[in-house]
Amino acid sequence: MNVGDRHYRTIWLSDDGRSVEIIDQRWLPHDFRVEKVSTVAGIATAIRDMWVRGAPLIGVTAAYGVAIQMADDPSDAALDGVWEVLHETRPTAINLRWALDEMRNFLRPLPSGQRAEAAYRRAGEIADEDVSLNRAIGANGLEIIKEIVARKQPGEPVNILTHCNAGWLATVDYGTATAPIYLAVEAGIPVHVYVDETRPRNQGAQLTAWEMAGHGVPHTLIVDNAGGHLMQRGQIDMVIVGTDRTTADGDVCNKIGTYLKALAAADNDVPFYVALPSPTIDWTVGDGLAEIPIEQRSSDEVSLVWGKTASGEIAQVRISPETTPAANPAFDVTPARLVTGLITERGVAKASREGLKAMFPGR
Ligand code: MRU
Repeated sequence: MNVGDRHYRTIWLSDDGRSVEIIDQRWLPHDFRVEKVSTVAGIATAIRDMWVRGAPLIGVTAAYGVAIQMADDPSDAALDGVWEVLHETRPTAINLRWALDEMRNFLRPLPSGQRAEAAYRRAGEIADEDVSLNRAIGANGLEIIKEIVARKQPGEPVNILTHCNAGWLATVDYGTATAPIYLAVEAGIPVHVYVDETRPRNQGAQLTAWEMAGHGVPHTLIVDNAGGHLMQRGQIDMVIVGTDRTTADGDVCNKIGTYLKALAAADNDVPFYVALPSPTIDWTVGDGLAEIPIEQRSSDEVSLVWGKTASGEIAQVRISPETTPAANPAFDVTPARLVTGLITERGVAKASREGLKAMFPGR
């Protein structure tokens, strides 16, 4: 997507053909910084400390991490080692394991002398595939938005609530939850997006709001607690969120707070959609609540908040007593029964084993 008048992806191969460049998302929306990462340790830090984040982008970044490792040492031991090092960076997003498996399975049969070049090629393909998957998700989600706008007065916007950032910053381009929104805007359909701030890290306030502003999408920032109230008053036509891992039974793991939005949506008959590319489906897991590991992050993310001061400095402030402990589960699981539909690259599936199998036969 464009930043100013220049098109960016969130990650790209550097001119040296070996390093990658990434948008360092920790500084948004106040500062747009690009970082060059040249080592596996750097890739691990960028994922763990959330310079890059969002399930699909985590996967693509890890794929490039494997390529960087292969350029240094293309042995079997190094291939297994980089899989382990990167796999432990963030435990919930399944795209990480998907991309690491994809790279290892592709590279393992090749002679070591061919692995580096093949790894960069495959990582690039995975990045390109992510963009095509998101475009297809966008087209399928757009049909739902069109159905809603057809029931409205001419010119009245479709009000969409989204949580966290499942936008282009969470992917290589377009985003998952935002792809139908961007395509609706391109098609001249009036939309308005309610952006959940998404405590503790505020990906909604910092990233989704920045994306919406950058692309001229009418939007309003709300605190996480406001969604239910707006739904009760008929101010939300649909919810679209992303997911870090969706099980074969259709349970949806996503950023903490998603479950509460799904409960409120069900209570108010607001359709609750989840947008996801197929690499986000974990076919090995059925019961999301029992089987998905939930990342527990630092309590500092709850007790301290980043922002920009009046003098223009990007700074952190404490919002709770020094001695108060804080818990920080980063994701929750929304049971399939609360999900209206899964917007995939192939179409909109029912959130159930039957629904997903019908959409992806052979899995
Ligand atoms: O902790 P984050 O910022 O990586 O969490 C991101 C999310 O929860 C997104 O909604 C999810 O990854 C889907 S991204 C297309």
